[in-house]
Amino acid sequence: MGARTCLAIVLAAGEGTRMRSAQPKVLHAIAGRSMLAHVLAALRDAGQTETAVVVGPGHAAVAAEAKAVLPGAEMFVQAERRGTAHAVLAAKSAIARGADDILVIFGDTPLIRPQTLAKLRAELAQGAAVAVLGFRPADPTGYGRLVMDGDNLIAIREQADASEAERAIATCNGGLMALAGAQALAILQKIGSDNRKHEFYLTDAVAIARTMGLRTRAVEVTEDEVSGINTKAQLAAAESQMQQRLRQAALDAGVTLVAPETVFLASDTKLGKDVVIEPYVMFGPGVTVEEGATIRSFSHIHGAHVGPGAIVGPFARLRPGARLEEGVHIGNFVEVKEALIEAGAKANHLSYIGDARVGAGANIGAGTITCNYDGAAKHRTDIGKGAFIGSNSALVAPVTIGDGAYVGSGSVITRDVPAEALAIGRGRQTVKEGWAGRLRGAKSAGKTTRQGSK
Ligand code: UD1
Ligand code: MG
Repeated sequence: MGARTCLAIVLAAGEGTRMRSAQPKVLHAIAGRSMLAHVLAALRDAGQTETAVVVGPGHAAVAAEAKAVLPGAEMFVQAERRGTAHAVLAAKSAIARGADDILVIFGDTPLIRPQTLAKLRAELAQGAAVAVLGFRPADPTGYGRLVMDGDNLIAIREQADASEAERAIATCNGGLMALAGAQALAILQKIGSDNRKHEFYLTDAVAIARTMGLRTRAVEVTEDEVSGINTKAQLAAAESQMQQRLRQAALDAGVTLVAPETVFLASDTKLGKDVVIEPYVMFGPGVTVEEGATIRSFSHIHGAHVGPGAIVGPFARLRPGARLEEGVHIGNFVEVKEALIEAGAKANHLSYIGDARVGAGANIGAGTITCNYDGAAKHRTDIGKGAFIGSNSALVAPVTIGDGAYVGSGSVITRDVPAEALAIGRGRQTVKEGWAGRLRGAKSAGKTTRQGSK
């Protein structure tokens, strides 16, 4: 469709009371991002040029999320919930600017694919004034029914207003609609509220367009793409659907998932070729894993960059700002946050590395902790290349360990250590020869005395 301009109107004014949540419905997350963000991303990928988001009164958080995903999105408030056509007309001033295509999409249909939006718009390019998505749900209860005459869509009848015969129609309205920009306002403004619910139904656009002598079409899709999320159970079902798509895409891109059904990805997870993900790994948003890296079982990774050939886990936690360069090893029960781990450095066991740099080839012994927080502020630890930090050391930030320096096991390091130096900061060991025997002797003497006194 190339040069055709498009205005997408996202309806996100729903409260979502059936979610039983303090959060607006469209902000609930699937694969690490909100349903609204999924819809907006699909729009962006479909090549829409402008987006309007219709939010409910007091839904500042919804508007903020929309702005975060698409900074150019325009916000409109539907002050009163009076139906889908009424909601669309909240964005009337945007519609009046006269885009070629107007796309109406619900904020709670996160599984919609960009190519489906493109198919809907293609109908407009071929001369339709209104195009909708049709699907055949297992249970059509509650959906609008598509009244067809051959290939032509005659009307959409809402369940509440449908006759017995109309209710028997298997093909339902998926909810998304594309309207030709040139006619959109004229059609929308003719919609009334003369129906059972006394709502302004967007779906009436079809019958109205036909009375105006315009062409109306339906494009059929599968149920999973248009299922609207109203409950936590539906949210979980959509999550599982989305995970299947993401896993399939990873496998297709050459990633090895040993047990795909146990790996949870975020929509933006980037996995390079020949990455191996062992069973039971969870990815939060913002993760890139480069070629040939291995993520071992039971690791939790969020906002992190894993360099080529690195090995992470089992049981590792990478938090936002963890940046692992090539060949780094992060082993079991190691947590890394806001830290650059340079090439070839290793922290194989039981450590916390936060607000730090670990120089190339450095070795962080088991149990090493960067003490980055003093109760008020965070401070940095800088560890030079090739440094060796003995096991169970506490590095009290801000502190610098020079290149090639050694820290003795069990040290509490509070002052900078120069390059190539050895720092030991721990209680000095004393040895008392024969002490244990004397203790035992004293104990057995005490026992005899006590027993004797019984
Ligand atoms: C709608 C369709 C129905 C279709 C179904 C698909 C209409 C009249 N009916 O019914 O044909 O089969 O979706 O799921 O369009 N909204 C507002 N403001 C309003 C009303 C709704 O923003 O005043 C938003 C809701 O937040 C939601 C969307 O529009 O995101 C759809 O509204 P909803 O009440 O869920 O419509 P359905 O009855 O499901
Ligand atoms: Mg609905």
